[in-house]
Formats: sequence, structure tokens, C-alpha cells
Amino acid sequence: MLVSATEMLKKARDGKYAVGQFNINNLEWTKAILLTAQECNSPVILGVSEGAGKYMTGFETVAAMVAAMDKSLGITVPVALHLDHGSYEGCYKCIKAGFTSIMFDGSHFPIEENVAKTTELVNVAHNLGLSIEAEVGSIGGEEDGVVGAGECADPNECKMIADLGVDFLAAGIGNIHGKYPANWAGLSFETLAAVNEKVGEMPLVLHGGTGIPDDMIKKAISLGVAKINVNTECQLSFQEATREYIEAGKDQQGKGFDPRKLLNPGFEAIKAKVKEKMELFGSVDKA
Ligand code: 13P
Repeated sequence: MLVSATEMLKKARDGKYAVGQFNINNLEWTKAILLTAQECNSPVILGVSEGAGKYMTGFETVAAMVAAMDKSLGITVPVALHLDHGSYEGCYKCIKAGFTSIMFDGSHFPIEENVAKTTELVNVAHNLGLSIEAEVGSIGGEEDGVVGAGECADPNECKMIADLGVDFLAAGIGNIHGKYPANWAGLSFETLAAVNEKVGEMPLVLHGGTGIPDDMIKKAISLGVAKINVNTECQLSFQEATREYIEAGKDQQGKGFDPRKLLNPGFEAIKAKVKEKMELFGSVDKA
């Protein structure tokens, strides 16, 4: 059931668990995540970066595929189709295409410009029933061309953006997209606690979910995180399972070259990874 992410994240914040955002790249990814959410009776957010949207030939293709698949698979758990790290123009394209949720990432603008553009997009999104995420501070590393230095958010700026009426807020707390380096200092719980204190009941978003140790995930949830984004870990699971299949020569046995067979181990690996994360985040049976 396609819905905005507002209600599912309010419930998560109140119930002290988090809803996973899993980024999609193609049909296999989308099907794996939707089926796992249904099997786990868990709400879920499908994240689409601008790069992945372009890869899938545009946001309209993505929205049409997700809506049709949600229907044909008989998905009854709440599913939000969400733009990840959207530009100003990208937000408008997704609103038009039929997404149910957008993220406007104005973190690289001066705070006044972030405020002005976020204000405008909050009004447009809410008038059409979409949820909207904003960002303060930046997520380190690189994701699909979005590069961040990884500075921690200023809690006062978080309050300023939260007060604009966004539905959930991503605050940089030392998190990084992609794999964490061996010398990573860990999440700044000091920053998270300060942000949480300032923004009251606002559900917080933890980007860069890949590779964050389980105890840090649980602590982050206890400090107001209600949405956790995972992308790279699903990609790595898919890659490892596909490599194993090919290295075992299975693609050369019988009809092992059939794309539906070739992509199946990766598909199953994504399902297993998404289930593991839903259990860790506490969203199982919360649909
Ligand atoms: P990872 O790729 O590190 O899991 O980050 C995902 C993310 O934050 C998407 O916005």
C-alpha cells in the first residue's frame, strides 16, 4: 500500500523503533524489498537517489513500476516511495511523477537558502499529501555523486529547519555513506542528543546505515532516530552472492545463464539483508 512516510515514522518514533529506507536500483531490488516487508509485516521506505532514478530511465518509470508492483504483489504493509538526497529540481520531478515522499537536501546551501527552499517545498509537498525530509549538517562520503564533508549538524539550525514543518529530519552526526574507514570515530551521540532535545518529537533520520555496529543503531533509536537508510550493504550482499554463483560455474551449467537464474542468488541475498535490518531496527510486525 503506497503511502506517505509521515504516519509510519510518527508511530516508529513513539514506539522506539526505526523504519528502514532501502535504496532501489531495478526490478529485482524493488521486488526483493517489497516481498520482505510483506513477509516481515513491516512498514518500509523505498529510497531512490537521483542517479538511480536516471538509471531506471526517469522518476516516472520508477513510480509506475513501484505502483504496479505494489498492486500485483498484493502488498498490504505501508510503503513509501521516497526521493533520496533530492535537488530542488529533482523534488519537483518526483512530486509530478507520483512519489509519496521527498527529501530535499539543501545541506550544501547557506542556511538561509536551505530555509527558503525547504519552506517552499514543505508547502508544495503537504498540499499534495507527500511527506518531506530535510537535512542539516552533511553526511560524509559519496553517494551517487552527492558528496559530503561529514560535518556534525548545528542543533540550533536543526530546530530552525524542523520548525518549517518538515516531517522528518536528517542531521549529520558523523555518519558516512558507504563503508566506514577503519579509523572512523563513531557516531556523535552528543550531537544526536542535543539535536533530539531541540527538535522535540520530530523523527530523526540516520543516513549511512551500512556498517554501523548494532549497539550504535540501538542507541541512536533510543535518541529519536526513527528512519535508517541502508544502501551499500544491499549492494555488497547482491555482489557477493552473484560472484559466488559465477565463480562456482553455475552460470555455465544447464540454463544457469538465464538472467532470472543468474540474478536470483543476489535477489535472495538482498531479501536476507533487508530482513536482518528490519529485525535489528525493530520494525517487524509494526505494519
Ligand atoms: P549507505 O550506503 O552507507 O548504507 O547509506 C545509505 C544512505 O544513507 C542513503 O541516503
